[in-house]
This record gives sequence, C-alpha cells and structure tokens, in this order.
Amino acid sequence: MTDRVPLRLRIAAIRYEADSVRSFELVAEDGRVLPPVEAGAHIDLALPGGFTRSYSIINTTGPADRYLIAVNREADSRGGSAHLCDVARVGDLIDVTPPLNTFRLAEDAEETLLLAGGIGITPILGMVRRLKALGHCWRLVYAARSRAAAAFLPEILVLAAANPGGVTLHFDDEAGRYLDAAAAIGAASPQAHLYCCGPEPMLAAFKSATAGRDPDRIHVEHFAGTAARPSGEFTVMLKRSGRTIVVPAGRTIMEVLQEAGIRVAYSCRSGVCGTCETRVLDGVPDHKDNVLSPREQASGKVIMICCSGAKSDLLVLDL
Ligand code: FES
Repeated sequence: MTDRVPLRLRIAAIRYEADSVRSFELVAEDGRVLPPVEAGAHIDLALPGGFTRSYSIINTTGPADRYLIAVNREADSRGGSAHLCDVARVGDLIDVTPPLNTFRLAEDAEETLLLAGGIGITPILGMVRRLKALGHCWRLVYAARSRAAAAFLPEILVLAAANPGGVTLHFDDEAGRYLDAAAAIGAASPQAHLYCCGPEPMLAAFKSATAGRDPDRIHVEHFAGTAARPSGEFTVMLKRSGRTIVVPAGRTIMEVLQEAGIRVAYSCRSGVCGTCETRVLDGVPDHKDNVLSPREQASGKVIMICCSGAKSDLLVLDL
C-alpha cells in the first residue's frame, strides 16, 4: 500500500443511500481530529484479502472529525464493495490513508458546471457542498439509471429548491435514453470550469464535448483504472540511490522496482489514484494513467509508475 502513514478509523455509521449504495462514516479510533479534506479528495481503504479501494470524501465542509464516503455495491465485485456493503459492520476498524486530491476544485472560478453519473456523485456532491459554503455560483447535472438508484437524492432535491435552475436531474428509465452530455454542457461559457465523474461512456462523451475548451478548465475523475502497460523495453535510473534498472517490455516500473526490493508508494496499481506519482528528472514518459491532465502529461515532469512507460530509452526518476 501507500507510504502515507495510514490512519486507523472506525466505522461509526452505515446508511442506505440508494438501491446499491451505502454511505459510511469513518472516525478516528481515539476520537482525534482527522487530516483536513479538500473538495475532490479521496482516501484509500485497506480491505480484507489485500484489496485497496479509493473512495471520494463527501463531507468537505465543517470539522474534520469524520470522513463520509459512499460505496456502490458492484454486481461483479471481487471483494472491495462486496466487503463494505455485505460484510462490514458499525464498529469495524479499517486502515485508511490520509486524503489525496487528484480532482481539485478551482475555488476561485466564477462559473462552475458539475456533471455526475451514478456513484460519481460522491466527489461532485463534496464540491457542491464546498461551493455552496463559499457562496459561489454552481450548476449540477446528475444522471442515474433511476430515482431509486440515485444516491443522496433527498439532499440534492433540497439543493435544487435553494438554487432554482441550478440542478438538472436525468433518470435513464424516465427519459428513455442516456444523458446527452454535450447538450448539458452547451450553455456553459468558455470561462466556466467543468467537472465530470461517472461511468466511462459518460466521461468519453464529456471529453468529446469539451475538446475545444481550455484544458485547464476541464476536470475529470475516473473510477476505472487502465489496463494499459508499457509496450517497449527501457531503463530507469533512480537519481537518489544511483541504481539503474531495466524495465522489460510489458512490465511496469513499479513491478520491476518492487522485485528489486525497492519500496514505492502505491494503492490502485492501475493509474487512477495518483498515489505512485513520481517526479521525472530526465527522459520522456509514455503516459498511460487516468490521473494527470493533458497539460500535466505533456509537461513530462511526473509519471505514474504503476502503469506508464517511456518514449525515451532512459528515464531518470526522483527515487
Ligand atoms: Fe494508483 Fe499508480 S498506484 S495511480
């Protein structure tokens, strides 16, 4: 797991939020105040069976005395959501990393449009709560399969009542189609910051619809990692230790470093959580992750070593 020192948290409450969604309140075992939370941040939970899963923190305002997360019980869960939704009980202890934010909210934006699909509402709701607390303008588009599948719907209806015209709800079963992301975005000004978290087809539609906009104002959070791996052989030099290691084709930098006995921070191992981010001192990364923005990838200054490779023969890393 990550090198960030884990917190031992206790499940203080479990609540029904929608058909397959439960929320969990996590508090420090000894009642301590927890590390503060930024809107968009997530924590990684170490679960039985060696699973590590990332969940967005929803309570982005108020005292940091607990973290509120929500979990969608995946039908084909291999142990992450199945454990939390079927097995975990109030009072259980879980090791949790401090918050990490790879989906930052531009808190100074004059216009903010947020699109959420399904359980993607979790980071988005945390952002709405934060923007509301700041007194900023925001618009939310929330799509779900049905009303029964829409988590946090009562809170969102209250937000809608207090922000007329600011909330658009879309239910696939009532509309008879999926959300038209391009139409939802259409009215946003070029200055607006746009956010999206949801299933991959929704993210693809969002990226397509925002392709002509300023990339610094487009923000995406993926649930799913990437199956991509480095395709060719290259060499990594570890600047701090002076070691040089060959990464064969099809292997990841992380795998090869771990086999060489080198400790590296990790969580998802699939380019989605940001835990393994490593500074690049020389060479050209071949990015495969779902974390870095296009601008961050183009800068070549950091790399997710769990999935990305190299376009150059040599990468010099700050390790
Ligand atoms: Fe999650 Fe690399 S371990 S992005």
